[in-house]
Amino acid sequence: MLGQGNRLHLIEQIRADGPLTRTPVVWVTADHEVCRTVLRDNDFGVADPAETGLPDPILRLIRRVDPGLPNPVEPPAMLMTDPPQHTEYRKMVARSFTPRSIATLDTRISDLTTTMLDAMSGAGVVDLISDYAAQLPAAVISEMLGVPEKDRQRILGWGNTVAALLDIGIAWPPFRAAMDDLIDADGYLGEHFRLLHVHGPDDTPFSKLALDGSLSGRELSSNAALLIGAGVETTVNLIGNGVTALLDHPDQLALLQDNPDLWPSAVEEILRFDSPVQMTARTALRDTEIDGVHLAEGTVIVLLLGGANRDPKVFDRPEQFDITRANARDHLAFGSGIHVCLGAALARIEGATALRELFIRYPELHLDSPAERRGLVNLHGYRRLPVRLQRSTSATTRRAS
Ligand code: HEM
Repeated sequence: MLGQGNRLHLIEQIRADGPLTRTPVVWVTADHEVCRTVLRDNDFGVADPAETGLPDPILRLIRRVDPGLPNPVEPPAMLMTDPPQHTEYRKMVARSFTPRSIATLDTRISDLTTTMLDAMSGAGVVDLISDYAAQLPAAVISEMLGVPEKDRQRILGWGNTVAALLDIGIAWPPFRAAMDDLIDADGYLGEHFRLLHVHGPDDTPFSKLALDGSLSGRELSSNAALLIGAGVETTVNLIGNGVTALLDHPDQLALLQDNPDLWPSAVEEILRFDSPVQMTARTALRDTEIDGVHLAEGTVIVLLLGGANRDPKVFDRPEQFDITRANARDHLAFGSGIHVCLGAALARIEGATALRELFIRYPELHLDSPAERRGLVNLHGYRRLPVRLQRSTSATTRRAS
């Protein structure tokens, strides 16, 4: 597993090599300007997983096994399509993310957070990942898709396993687990959308999309699976990484406790400092040039978003966690350009609400035993975060890197 120290060291080695580094398989960059330029440049399109370093046996299996599954990292999930198809999908799914829809969700997120905090009250030690951080995004996506509360844990389970598909060099067991879950999700979502046809739409924008016939069943399920795959684990990581960053920097937590208006900027700094999504990739659609380097059609560039977010050319003393940093919002944690995160506004509200309410309710919260990183390369967060909700003298506060 790539520990936090090793990861940051590797990023700085790549940066020291210049804005663009050539490896035997792909080009890599940790440069903010290059990442942003590539993400916004029409000369680049989405990268085929075949080009991003997955071992050959896995690639053959991706192609041969379960081709009809709603895989969030395969077309027709919008994340893996280029215009004009991408423009169409994005426009339709974006109806669930209008400012009005997000404003409605804002109130709901506060209510859900209160319920989740109530459920933990009385417990001495909890795993903040499974008991809290994971519950909120799973509940929010479930409600957006019109999935009933009794099935929420299934959404959470799928979000957890399917997230591994976004990783580079995924091993066979997690790959197979993700495929099994996609089979399960495919059956579930297919039936869910069929029932909407029978009973008519509920009040969620996604259900109206399901019924208006503009997307095929496969397009609908793939993009619903993308919301689950892209919206659960990422937000869990924002909350988990935020808790550890604040516990590691008590002065910053104290500042927030005195100035609650700073929570939104704290969320931006958490996204910059310990980015939940560490990288993405693009392929040159034609011969092109970046930073004076000629790149032939088909060249793949891995964009280290977590590295761009620590670029000293953009962020003064990038290794410092500073919730008052004026330009923290210039981070690329949500990407940029046409694929910029569709759920960014939602994630920001979820992150700020979950963290603020947690530290209001439990100002003395601290680690009970070392936290465990999840061990994925791309989606960067914790598997376990055991915390004691109230202060106790016997607790340890060490944390794994
Ligand atoms: C802190 C939480 C989140 C982070 C850090 C994050 C990060 C990202 C990034 C980096 C991308 C762009 C990937 C690329 O260009 O290759 C992206 C795309 C996307 N995200 Fe998020 N995301 C988060 C939360 C969410 C949520 C809550 C949702 C939905 C409920 C969501 C839905 C999407 C979708 C649908 C796309 C694809 C957009 C497109 O292809 O046009 N994300 N996200």
